[in-house]
Formats: sequence, C-alpha cells, structure tokens
Amino acid sequence: MTSIRTRIIVVTSGKGGVGKTTVTSNLGMTLAQMGKKVLLLDADVSLRNLDLLLGLESRVLYTGADIIAGVCPLHMGLVKDKRQPHLYFCPLSSNKNKAPITRDELQSLIDEVYGVFDFILIDSPAGIDEGFQLAIGSVSEALIVVTPEITSIRDADKVIGILLGQQINKINLVVNRVRPVMVKSETMMSAGDIHEILSIPVIGVVPESELVIIASNRGEPLILGKEKSLPKSAFEDMAQRLVGTAVPFTNLEAASSLNPVKRFINIFRSKKAKEVEDFTEFPEMILPVKHAKPRPQDLREKPKSKLNKEGNEKE
Ligand SMILES: Nc1ncnc2c1ncn2[C@@H]1O[C@H](COP(=O)(O)OP(=O)(O)OP(=O)(O)O)[C@@H](O)[C@H]1O
Ligand SMILES: [Mg+2]
Repeated sequence: MTSIRTRIIVVTSGKGGVGKTTVTSNLGMTLAQMGKKVLLLDADVSLRNLDLLLGLESRVLYTGADIIAGVCPLHMGLVKDKRQPHLYFCPLSSNKNKAPITRDELQSLIDEVYGVFDFILIDSPAGIDEGFQLAIGSVSEALIVVTPEITSIRDADKVIGILLGQQINKINLVVNRVRPVMVKSETMMSAGDIHEILSIPVIGVVPESELVIIASNRGEPLILGKEKSLPKSAFEDMAQRLVGTAVPFTNLEAASSLNPVKRFINIFRSKKAKEVEDFTEFPEMILPVKHAKPRPQDLREKPKSKLNKEGNEKE
C-alpha cells in the first residue's frame, strides 16, 4: 500500500469560457513536470474538450463510466500522456448513448486510484447544474477560474457559496485573461480588486495572451513550449503555490511593456522596490473565515477592502 495523500481538486467557474480547461491542462502538465503524479478527469460530458487541449483525443478509447462498468480494466481506461509519464487523463463519460456517471460511481473510481496519484484535477463544465454537481461531489478543494469581468465574478461568487455549503472550504482563485494595460488605465479590475471582492486567496494570475490560443489550437499545453513567456511562468508559479511554495506575483504591467528597455527598467525597479503584489495568505492558503458577498453594484465600483490582512472585518 502506498502512503500518498491524493489531493482532489475541482477546477470550476460558474461562467463558461473563462479558461477552466486551459488551467486544468497547463496546471496538470506543470505539476507532472515537477514530478507529481497527476490524473486529469474531464467532467464536461456534453462539450468535452480537455482531450483536445492535451492533444490526446486519438488515444481515448474508454471512459470512466467504462472502467466502473467493467468494460475495461483501470490501466486501459486511464490514458497516459505521450510526452509526460506522470500525467494521466480520463473523460468521465461520453455523450454517445450513455447515461451520465453518478456521484457514487465517480467516488468509486476515485477510491480505486486514491493513493496512486498526488493530484486529481477535475475539469468542471460551466454552470451549476448536473455536471458541476458531479464534479464537486468527491473533492475537498477547488480552484475557481475568473476573468476580470463582473459576470464572471458574480458567477464565481455563486459557486463559492455552493462550495462552502458543501463543506469544501479550501478554495483558491485563478484570475485569467488579465490585460495589464487595461488594469493600468483602470478600465479592468486587477487581481487584487477581485481578491477583495471574493475574499479568497489568489493562487494564479494569467495574462491574456495569443500564445495560449495558439497552444490550444495545436493541442499542446503552452507549458510544454521551450520559450519563456508570461503565461508560461504564470502556470509554473501557480503550480508552485499549489504545493505550498510562496512565490511572489509578477508585476504584469511592468513585465509586459512593449519597449524592451522600458520593460527591463520596470522589472528592475519593481523588483528593487519589492512592488510585487501580494494578495494571498501564504503559506496556509486557507479561505478567510468570513466570505464577503458582493452586491451587483459593488462589482461595478472599484472595491474597497472590508477585510484586514488576517481576513477579518476591519473595525
Ligand atoms: N490567458 C488566455 N489568453 C488568451 N486566450 C485564452 C486564455 N485562457 C483561455 N483562453 C482561450 O479562451 C477560450 C476558452 O478557454 P477554455 O476552453 O479553457 O475555457 P472553459 O472555461 O474551459 O470553457 P467551458 O466553460 O466552455 O468549458 C479558449 O479558446 C482558450 O484558448
Ligand atoms: Mg472547458
């Protein structure tokens, strides 16, 4: 018997198209590159596309439902990644003539692999219906992906409420598709603003980048590219934080300036002045006790923090 404690994490959002599958594939690949054994489960039955983003679509012959039904043994149902031996993938079920997998069935699949993997990441479908309910059924942790838009933040808030109601208290935030120029001109909320509204620790901030789209279209997670890039280091830093390493946040605004001389000076200055933003409660990465529920009008104004550094209400 192995003694690994498997961390089972759902990647969810409420709103569709914000980057759940992108985060699941890149974070999973990064953790595997760090030597962790990782299983990625696709709970998005009707619009499944994690296999495409991983470039594994031609290798998928069975599903989690087939493993549970005894149609194939476990080792045949889990697809091993062709580039990274620590990474495995399995869609929970297919939409072709199959009844969706139930919560109990997913739990029995997880029981079979518990202790074998360091991480199981479950890519949730958008919304809060059946597929989402299935995805959160067996997890003890969640990553909420948001984009800096009020619709995404409001949906995330709803999802956080549901997760807390299910006693899933370890929740971290990934802010995706951040545009530093817009943040600077105050036409887009910053990760810090979103952290203050949702009151959960930020574990990653990923800039908007065409490299992400190119990688998706190639079916090759961006993280596998050799070149350094801001989104790539965002995923690497996110994985480090997930395993408990306190990595400072990159000042995206400074790092993404188009002028290379200005960029160097900005990065140098920001490092010197320790201007990296910090909106987490490392090393614990635990949700603050009080969850501040934003009202819709709050989301349109620049939020003012009601919480102090310890996550408690200011006097
Ligand atoms: N940081 C980014 N920069 C640019 N494009 C991005 C970024 N993150 C995601 N995208 C693009 O946004 C689109 C949606 O991403 P993705 O499929 O990961 O979202 P999702 O939340 O899983 O969607 P769904 O709710 O439909 O499952 C994709 O085309 C992806 O390439
Ligand atoms: Mg998706």
